[in-house]
Amino acid sequence: MKILTIIGARPQFIKASVVSRAIQQTKGIQEIMLHTGQHFDANMSDIFFNQLGIPRPDIQLDIHGGGHGEMTGRMLIEIEQSLLAHKPDRVLVYGDTNSTLAGALAAAKLHIPVAHVEAGLRSFNMQMPEEINRILTDQISELLFCPTKTAVKNLENEGFASKPAKVLQPGDVMQDAALLFAEKAAAPAGSNLPESFVLATLHRAENTDNPERLASIVNALNKIHREQALVVLPLHPRTRKLIAQQGLELNVHLIDPVGYFEMVWLLDHCQLVLTDSGGVQKEAFFFGKACVTMRDQTEWVELVEAGANELVGADGDLIIEAAAQNFGRIVDDASNLYGGGKAALQIVKELL
Ligand code: UD1
Ligand code: UDP
Repeated sequence: MKILTIIGARPQFIKASVVSRAIQQTKGIQEIMLHTGQHFDANMSDIFFNQLGIPRPDIQLDIHGGGHGEMTGRMLIEIEQSLLAHKPDRVLVYGDTNSTLAGALAAAKLHIPVAHVEAGLRSFNMQMPEEINRILTDQISELLFCPTKTAVKNLENEGFASKPAKVLQPGDVMQDAALLFAEKAAAPAGSNLPESFVLATLHRAENTDNPERLASIVNALNKIHREQALVVLPLHPRTRKLIAQQGLELNVHLIDPVGYFEMVWLLDHCQLVLTDSGGVQKEAFFFGKACVTMRDQTEWVELVEAGANELVGADGDLIIEAAAQNFGRIVDDASNLYGGGKAALQIVKELL
């Protein structure tokens, strides 16, 4: 069986690393890796291949930037050519980025069955590019690997029970990654951090592309850093650009984006996670930390229901208040919401 995996953005490298590893341990399955080039800085791409032992891409495209249509369209054209050349039995896509949609669409049109890891997630906010990407990808996938019960339910509500597609719940590959690589945790070089700090990340388009929301979040982070605790923020290139464009001053402990081993260290040592990332909300939980999420909705509703995650949107006062209330709060990961770290093996078994 020949699988062609399509990845392109930071979280996809982390998710694919554990599945790739499981593929390498399994007889009868061969993986061809295609990197679209969506993320391309060394600390947004190469570092993950090096740290996590992901095989070098067999096909390296160089498609990034531009509008959504342009990026997705260019990917579609070039992925189609690669699929025609390599003739895989299945295409494997992850998450909800433009690389995900382009890969799934190119494959489905060539009648190559698509398997989607992280299927069924919904924010019910169609303003998010990710929501459009994931709904469309699910519609044209034949194997839908859901990370949570809620994701399975979402697909049932959309009528998947009566479709030929197969919906499965192997768990979340991000938990596999967190468990597998926790022992490799390494402090970011030269960061010299105090015992007590907040780990923040910020990149979601709904925050960064909206000047009011961005200014409100920046002011709140500055205030927390000034008055409560040091805020460590590995700055995403999107956010760096938009903060400069808006003439905002983010006066926290800024560092460049870090590798996964450094991120795991920061998650393990912080007193609170403040984020608008999808993946980081769960990682906070895996490392027993409370999370304050600067979004209006989350796909990971079970964390909110379990009291591990507080949704505060972009309101500065709410962010500051929630940060104060949740600082140092330990969260108990006893509920096995994400499958316990065996997702990758189950996915590979099912692919075979
Ligand atoms: C993308 C995904 C988002 C995901 C995020 C993970 C889409 C629509 N969005 O958002 O769902 O949460 O990745 O991080 O697919 N840039 C660089 N260097 C890089 C990468 C990006 O300079 O290595 C710049 C790009 O040129 C662009 C901006 O950052 O100007 C945004 O990149 P893009 O890939 O379009 O979207 P993300 O915000 O990264
Ligand atoms: N991450 C990382 N280095 C960083 C910031 C994030 O390795 O500087 C990891 C993080 O631990 C998680 C993934 O990248 O595994 C999340 O990616 P991101 O927040 O960019 O995307 P999202 O999950 O929101 O799609």
